[in-house]
This record gives sequence, structure tokens and C-alpha cells, in this order.
Amino acid sequence: MRIVVLNDAESVAHYGANQIIETINKKPDTNLGLATGSSPIRLYQNLITAYQQGQVSFKQVTTFNLDEYLGLTGDHPQSYRYFMNQQLFNEIDIDLDNTFVPDGSTKNPLKTCADYEANMRERGGVALQLLGIGRNGHIGFNEPSSSLVSRTRVKTLTKDTVEANRRFFKPGEFQPHLSLTMGIGTIMEASQIMLIATGADKAEAIKNTIEGPVSAYCPASILQMHANVTVVIDQDAALGLKDVAFYQYIEQEQSRLQAAIKMAG
Ligand code: GLP
Repeated sequence: MRIVVLNDAESVAHYGANQIIETINKKPDTNLGLATGSSPIRLYQNLITAYQQGQVSFKQVTTFNLDEYLGLTGDHPQSYRYFMNQQLFNEIDIDLDNTFVPDGSTKNPLKTCADYEANMRERGGVALQLLGIGRNGHIGFNEPSSSLVSRTRVKTLTKDTVEANRRFFKPGEFQPHLSLTMGIGTIMEASQIMLIATGADKAEAIKNTIEGPVSAYCPASILQMHANVTVVIDQDAALGLKDVAFYQYIEQEQSRLQAAIKMAG
């Protein structure tokens, strides 16, 4: 795992956005895996700014979102489809027909999930998957005890996740307790994965992800088994880590090596 510890949330957003921009500029018809939640919002703002400044175009990009609430239509303000349109898609030059979010209004969730997987496969899979992380270590909506080889399916949310996301819903408003989510096995098929996290309330989950055992109880810990993962965090999210100095040292050594290779070549 590559572990990048930065000063603050803005640096995390900037770094994450740059990785995505580089990926698109290398391959303009790239397939991105995208995430919702508050963590990626600043990163998406950085992408919008880069698009406005002509540094990147999303015209040929295809996107697959991780998850959606089951029972919300795409025009519901708390649906993840609505979030993505508002926070990113409506502000850039992406073709909305090439943006995929599981359909939360489906009457046949099993078929919707199978079709979602088939569509991802047909379009060549995800090149770079962006992830946030829940306080309990969930990725997408894969809650603790999710099978580490699971596929896109219906998942029941934990009370903790429902509580954590309550802030987005109005008092008394229907808040789904079920979701459609890419499975952990699905996520692991992305060629590259970037997980971002900021703030002290993510410190425990980050500690378990990076330094804990691989365990279904912390779904993000499976990323230890992926060959191309970058975890980008701020100082607060790094608070539980035992070995931050070593991770920073690795990054310095990597930069030196890259510079030497550039000079030589
Ligand atoms: C939700 C999403 C996750 C996200 C998590 C953390 O549960 N399904 O994909 O990573 O929330 O959200 P936040 O970034 O708001 O802390």
C-alpha cells in the first residue's frame, strides 16, 4: 500500500484530484469508479476547477459509482445519483449517458445488481476507483462482516452508518436502511484504487485498514491484498497509525528514486 499523509483536507483533495486528472490525460476514455459522502466533495471541486481551466476534459470518460440507497429515485436530493449530478457531473463536460449509479428506484434489485456488474465488465472494468471510508471501515456500503469476495448486491446498513448519514436527511424524512453496493470483490477488480480520508473520526478505521489484520470486520483492510492502492489521508486521520514516520520516509525515497530515473532517462 502506498500511504500518503498530507497536512490537511484541502491537500488531500488536491492530491486526489491530480491523480484522477493524470489518469484521464493519459487515457481520455478512461473508466473511473466514483464515491459519494462528504470526503470526495472538495476533490470534485478541484476537478471542476481543473476542467474550467482547460486542464482536463471528461468528454470520453465513463464513471461507475459505488453505491446507492435502495428506495430513493435519482431525483431525490439524498440519492447518490442526485449528489453526483450536483457535485460533479452537471459542472463538467461528461456525457451523462456515460455515468452509472446503481438504480435505487428498482423493483428488481437482484437484476439491477447483476446488470450493473455486466455493464462494468462489458465496458472493460474500472481503471481507477476512488473510495471514501466509513467510521467502521466500510467501503461503498460494504459494512463489517461483508464477504471479502462479494459482488454488487443489496446490503443492510449498520445503525452506526444510518446515524452517521442522518445529517443529510431532514428530521422525520424517510432514510433508507438498505442499499445497492458494488461488492468488495467488485471493487478489488479495479486496476488502481485510491482511498481518501480526513478527520480524527476516521483515525480508527484508517489504523485498522493499514495496520490491522485483513478482516471482514474492517472491510477496507482487504485493500492490503491489492497491488496498486494509495491511501491519501490528512494528519488527523493518521492519528492512530503507529508508523507514520516510516510511511513518509518511503514517500521521500520514492520521490528521490523517481527524480533519479528521470535524470537518467
Ligand atoms: C457512505 C458511503 C461511503 C462513504 C462513507 C463515508 O456510507 N456509502 O462510500 O465512504 O459514507 O462518508 P463521509 O465521507 O461522508 O464520511
